[in-house]
Amino acid sequence: MYKQIVLKYNDKLNNKDLLAIKLFNESFKTNEIQLEHDHNQVIVLLRELDINKLQDIYVRFSSYTSKTIFQDLLNSIEQIKSYGIKGKKRNYVDYNKERKVKQRKKKQIKRSQYYYAKENIFTKKENKFPEKYLNQIIVGDSENILNNIPDNCVDLVFTSPPYNFGLDYNKNQDDHYWEDYFSKLFKIFKECIRVTKYGGRIIINIQPLFSDYIPSHHLISNFFIKEKLIWKGEILWEKNNYNCKYTAWGSWKSPSSPYLKYTWEFIEIFCKGDLKKNGNKENIDISADEFKKWVLGKWSIAPEKNMKKYKHPAMFPEELVERVLKLFSYKKDIILDPFNGVGTTSVVSKRLNRKYIGIDISREYCKVAQARIKDLEEKN
Ligand SMILES: C[S@@+](CC[C@H](N)C(=O)[O-])C[C@H]1O[C@@H](n2cnc3c(N)ncnc32)[C@H](O)[C@@H]1O
Repeated sequence: MYKQIVLKYNDKLNNKDLLAIKLFNESFKTNEIQLEHDHNQVIVLLRELDINKLQDIYVRFSSYTSKTIFQDLLNSIEQIKSYGIKGKKRNYVDYNKERKVKQRKKKQIKRSQYYYAKENIFTKKENKFPEKYLNQIIVGDSENILNNIPDNCVDLVFTSPPYNFGLDYNKNQDDHYWEDYFSKLFKIFKECIRVTKYGGRIIINIQPLFSDYIPSHHLISNFFIKEKLIWKGEILWEKNNYNCKYTAWGSWKSPSSPYLKYTWEFIEIFCKGDLKKNGNKENIDISADEFKKWVLGKWSIAPEKNMKKYKHPAMFPEELVERVLKLFSYKKDIILDPFNGVGTTSVVSKRLNRKYIGIDISREYCKVAQARIKDLEEKN
């Protein structure tokens, strides 16, 4: 089965055109793309295609014909917005052949989807975000600072809390009794929920401390679910950092207590009140290709390389923030990071024309964040 496109010309196809078509067909497999011809028209039979290869072939063969066949071909294929992606190729047929459930919507209602979040008391009324905190990096304990922000005025929270691994965050040790750690974390997350708008999102990057057998990502998800937020999903951030140790005492080649290794972290996504976030179409900045790639819930992104430069032990990479912001927020939205570190969320928010507020307890980290923002302003 092929997707068919017909290109029509005023003049009959001549020998040069036919030679160009023959050479084109020889460059592709029959399950990729083939051209047929009939009097004054070229019939494109399209199945799956590496668009970069098509562009190369276009450059090589377009001078063989006086007609604009290859230009027209490229343009008409570029205009097709519905396709699947498999490796380097776009797949134009059968890519959405998933098993269809009949009356899907009706059944979802009957099962009571996200039943745990139904009886929330969130209100839709939004408040104005205070000017004095807009586009600011603020030094302080987020629990106190967020107290000054009204309910329902932030569009999206994206953050990576301290993981309680024992890292040295600029003199503040990240090493507490787990119960104290979660109790403090949840106070700050409660404030995040309060300041988030109805329909807004709270997105948390978290790595559990496997060696303590603390499933932080599950405990945090449970917290948000109990607070009646809707769990929208989970992204697995594959860091491919295979340099982790391969043995732990007692684990080598013995079923007594094998120790599992992880090269990824989790990103948990929650919605307040509604799964849908309304916004102006002109404020969408994600491309079709980005959307198709990023809705797959596994992202391969290398860990941040500039941690030494910015003197922070646990930064996330800018690309991670870029994907989260483009996929889950609109331009001009207000983005909060209550554990802002050296300001990656704020810097990317600014670069992507969002507004931001970044809070961190460390004055040193906030200074670095401000310097990064200044650098960005100077570049523009
Ligand atoms: C995992 S790091 C975040 C790094 C950040 N994503 C970046 O790219 O720079 C967690 C941050 O939380 C900060 N922090 C810890 N407790 C805090 C609190 N109560 N209020 C505000 N910030 C806090 C730490 O100083 C640390 O920089």
